[in-house]
Amino acid sequence: MAHHTFLAGPDDWWRTAVVYQIYPRSFKDNDGDGIGDFRGIIGKAAYLKSLGVDAIWLSPFYPSELADGGYDVANYRDVDPRIGSLEQFDELIDEYHSLSIRVIVDIVPNHSSDQHPWFQEALAAPPGSTTRDRYIFRDGRGENGELPPSDLASHFSPLGWTQVRDGQWYMHLFAKEQPDFNWDNPEVREDFKKTIRFWCNRGVDGFRVDVAHALAKNLDPLPSHQSFGPDIIPEDGSDALLDRNEVHEIYAEWREIFNEYSPKRIAIAEAWVPHSRKHGYVSETSLGQIFNFDIAVSRWGSDSYRKVIEDNITFDRESGNSSTWVFSNHDVIRHATRFALPPGTDEDEWYEKNRFNPGLDLALGLRRARAGTILILGLPGSTYIYQGEELGLPEVLGIPDDQMQDPQWELHNHEKKSRDGCRVPIPWTKEGSSFGFGPNGSHLPQPEWFGQYSVEAQEGVEGSTLELYREAIALRHELLGDNSFRWIHTDDKVLHYERTGGWQVITNFGDEPVPMPEGDVLICSAKHDGTELPGNATAWLRA
Ligand code: BGC
Repeated sequence: MAHHTFLAGPDDWWRTAVVYQIYPRSFKDNDGDGIGDFRGIIGKAAYLKSLGVDAIWLSPFYPSELADGGYDVANYRDVDPRIGSLEQFDELIDEYHSLSIRVIVDIVPNHSSDQHPWFQEALAAPPGSTTRDRYIFRDGRGENGELPPSDLASHFSPLGWTQVRDGQWYMHLFAKEQPDFNWDNPEVREDFKKTIRFWCNRGVDGFRVDVAHALAKNLDPLPSHQSFGPDIIPEDGSDALLDRNEVHEIYAEWREIFNEYSPKRIAIAEAWVPHSRKHGYVSETSLGQIFNFDIAVSRWGSDSYRKVIEDNITFDRESGNSSTWVFSNHDVIRHATRFALPPGTDEDEWYEKNRFNPGLDLALGLRRARAGTILILGLPGSTYIYQGEELGLPEVLGIPDDQMQDPQWELHNHEKKSRDGCRVPIPWTKEGSSFGFGPNGSHLPQPEWFGQYSVEAQEGVEGSTLELYREAIALRHELLGDNSFRWIHTDDKVLHYERTGGWQVITNFGDEPVPMPEGDVLICSAKHDGTELPGNATAWLRA
């Protein structure tokens, strides 16, 4: 068997890491099939080193029919041949580890693809069989079982049940091609432990756990609705489907495996749960870290950001968590565009009406995006960067219907925004085939204006967003000390805080300039004259 590289280091590297999310199918296509691949990712290791990131997180690269962008996994211990092979995965780990960049992989335990051999076996087996018990099959209601077992809606469509040929129904919280596992079944538990060991042994440094709060379910009686969202999930663990206490029994077993390795493997929960319920996921016997999406869903403004920052710093101090500050990922409108939307916009409604004629002030969006990033890179905790945001890339809004891939769009009758616009392959060069993404075009259409945001257009250009990210991440590494954080001044336009060693961060959320505080300006997200901090800008200073 091939050797595997492991990266030594402290157990708590993740607490302050800058993690770069790669959506593999849209990062860099080396073999020319229009789909990004491992060779492409390997070839860009030097680029990510020059960006200064501590780790990469790979969204799913497993074999998949792509019913949900790869979050429908047909084999948890293999690689989609369009993306590469296990040998290439080993090369990727070697390459990134040789540059001291850690690698986190996505694990999708709530559901598999309907193409997973277990689901295919379940379909071929009779009702009540042990193979069906790995998933959630039930008889229907009505005289002949013609009605679904309950009125449960899926996250993507009005019904969370799909009927199979012999009349039974199976449950899916997402698309019908994503049947939910039955986590009460010991075989399911054992198989995931095997998967975790498989990737740990190949050298991965950690896991991002998809919909981590959904695995444990109480199906008696069968739930008829899904309380999706931190505002409606009950705070006592009593929801039938989400955030049940028993989910941590599963993670306690995983944690034992993570702790067998040195350094310990890490895990981060994607769990949209109420604030009061986050403790469970960050406990030392559970996953250890939970995504903090609060700033991503907050309105641009001093008051809302101050609250989010205070709440999360308090939570981290009480719980031992380390916040992940994040603005963008593969599920949301890129923040350079989001920050240009009118305040209070319902994004789904806006998207449906305006995507061919958005009329947004993208210059303002970009100013805020840059200011926001410099603000969060100063905070205690870790920062997650989504591929392309370091280029200030806006959302691609005008993708024609017939080229959309996201099931959320189609299954919701175009009433819920498509996530394709943030998944368009990123531009590496100013011109040429798919702007340097690959030699033969890209699986999602890129707009004509893409080249102006490319790496080539920004590399070495003073003031470009790429150079701002590079400079800020390098400086952060120099300045990072302990966890200390203290407000120096806040008002309805300004947040000004101090970290360790006299490092100060000030953001002006207003449109008018404010006086620049005393001290040496180390970096600023906008052009400035040294005496004033422009509107929608952040600066770092040393007093
Ligand atoms: C992922 C989505 C995916 C869903 C179902 C998520 O939260 O981030 O992209 O559609 O889980 O797997």
